[in-house]
This record gives sequence, structure tokens and C-alpha cells, in this order.
Amino acid sequence: MPSLNFASDNIAGASQPVLDAIVAANAGPMPAYGADPITTGLTTRFSELFEREVEVVLVATGTAANALALASVLSPWGLCLCHEEAHIIDDECGAPEFFTAGAKLLGLQGNGAKIDPRSVAEAVDRLPRHEKQMPAELVSISQATECGLVYGIEEIAALGEVAHARGVKLHMDGARFANALVRLGCSPADMTWRSGVDILSFGGTKNGCLAAEAVIVFDPDLAGTLRRRRKRSGHTLSKGRLLSAQFEGYLAGGHWLDNARHANAMAERLAAGVKALPGARLAWPTEANEVFAILPRGIDEALRRAGAVYHPWSDRSLPAGEALGPDEVLVRLVTAFTTTQDSVDGFLNAARSGA
Ligand SMILES: Cc1ncc(COP(=O)(O)O)c(C=O)c1O
Repeated sequence: MPSLNFASDNIAGASQPVLDAIVAANAGPMPAYGADPITTGLTTRFSELFEREVEVVLVATGTAANALALASVLSPWGLCLCHEEAHIIDDECGAPEFFTAGAKLLGLQGNGAKIDPRSVAEAVDRLPRHEKQMPAELVSISQATECGLVYGIEEIAALGEVAHARGVKLHMDGARFANALVRLGCSPADMTWRSGVDILSFGGTKNGCLAAEAVIVFDPDLAGTLRRRRKRSGHTLSKGRLLSAQFEGYLAGGHWLDNARHANAMAERLAAGVKALPGARLAWPTEANEVFAILPRGIDEALRRAGAVYHPWSDRSLPAGEALGPDEVLVRLVTAFTTTQDSVDGFLNAARSGA
């Protein structure tokens, strides 16, 4: 019986190349606290990947990456504009506010958890310039978004322009960076600094790492305090090589891109099947590794009876004109690098039994 668990990409363990890299890095003594050759080599590796010199600071969770990235930009009285459903505002238990010692997140509305340049410009421009108000200092976007959409390069560049024209920096929460990247088929440089991204949370955990995320700094002015902030927050690993080794295995030979392509392909297969279910439809197009399905309650109940696992989702950011009927539910189905065709087909068969 294949797994019918589509609750998250985090239900998967680590991939074999990542585990092999950890085992290979395990032997013998190496300098601690990131002075080892694997960690130092990783800066070169990421610089090649992004086609320029970057500063790389590794942590074990996406929340730490986001909160530390935000803290390196925002002053305690600064404002960060993001979507109202952004992970940083909804799912990090106030870590960004804690690590910034008081900065505030301002949630904007937008279809599919995307923010657009116009609403960013309006929000920044209507802020009174008085010492009583918090100034906007950062815009943060999630790539892919919390509703599974992928910002196009022009969309990122437009946000970057609007932000920079107002002295505001741009952060990208790339917890699903690889899934978005293979969707766009562009280079990591094009999806980030060439489009105005100043600082990036580069996710690894959801797509094959055991627990590894990298803060990638493109704006050299932001790099200075990041390492101290990481240590002060308790996120500097003494055996840093075992964190770095994960990225070594993850990036080698395009393994990370293969994983993401697989997860996205499984999501596409799932989305096609969902669309063919009587009475079902997609809330947003499937652009990465998440399917957001509006299901008749009967199908949802049949799936639960069959042991399928997934989360209900918020309908706050549905497109204009879309709404849930009284007998419909909105659910999120996430695929991972470990998802099999059998799982997808098993899920769809169970759904059909309730149609
Ligand atoms: C958009 C987004 N950002 C960041 C994260 C990272 O979160 P965590 O701290 O659980 O690794 C997640 C994980 O669910 C996410 O979906």
C-alpha cells in the first residue's frame, strides 16, 4: 500500500547523497565552528552557483534563516512588508520580531500569497515620515509562495525596483527555492540578485537535506553582523562540517535540481488527477510542489477514511471571484523528492471512490 501522506515536504527524510556526504565528512578531526575545509569550500561553491561573490551563513532551520536574515536588515523600529499569509508572519512564532528586537511585519493582501509592486508602493508611500512611525526597511517574498505560486523574474524585478527606489531592501524566503527555480528554468542569479534580491534564505531541508538552510547575502553591507547574530541566537553549530556537508551532497551533480524536478512532476500529476475529479478544482495553478485543491466534502471524507493525510488550507488569498461552497473544503497537498507515482495514483483512486 503506497503512502497517502501529502501533509508536507518535511515528511520525507534526508536523501541518500546528503546522508553519504555527512558520513564522508564524519571521519577524523576537523576544525570546529565553520573553520573546516568543507564549510569554507561551500562559500566558493555558492559563489559559483550565484555567479558572484556571496556571503554564506548556514543554520539548521528555515525559521532561523529567515529571522536572522531579517535581523541583519531591520532596525528594531523598522517595518518589513510581506504577504499576510507569509511564513515569517504566520508560522514562526514571532521569531523575526524577537531576533530584530522589535521590528514589525506588515501583512499585505494578494492572490495566491503574492504581493505586487503597486500594493508595496502604496503601503510604503502612505507611511508618514515622522519619528512616531516605523519606517519601511524591507520587503520579503516567499518563492514559492505559501499558496504554491512562483514569482516570475519580471515580478521579482518589479518588486526590487519599487523597494530600492524607496530605500527598502528585498528578502526572499526560498524554503522552496529549488522547486521555484526548476519551474522557471532560469539561473539562481536571475531569480535573485539580478532581479534585486539583497538577501536570501536558501532552503535545503524540504528538498533533501537533513536540516540545512543557508542565508545567502548579496549586499555586502548586510554580511557584517550576521555571524555574530547567529552565534548570539544559539544557531552556530560547533560541528559545522556536518551542516556544510549536507549542502555539499545536496548541490553535487545537480542532485538538488533533480529532487525538485521530481517533486514538481509529482505535483503536476496529482493536479491533473484532482482537476479530473467530479466537482473538484484547483484553487491556484500548480507551479511548484504543492497542489491546492477545492474538494467536495464527500471526496475529502473518502480520502480521510482511506488514511490520506493532508492539511486544510486558508481561503484568505483565493483569486477574485473564487469562493468555497458550503460543501467544499480547501486542502493543501504537498509532494516531495520521495513521492512516488504509486502514492499519487493511490491518492487519486481513493478520491475517486468518494466522488
Ligand atoms: C515558506 C516557508 N518558509 C520557511 C519555512 C521553514 O520553516 P522551518 O523553520 O520549519 O524549517 C517553511 C516551512 O514550512 C515554509 O513553508
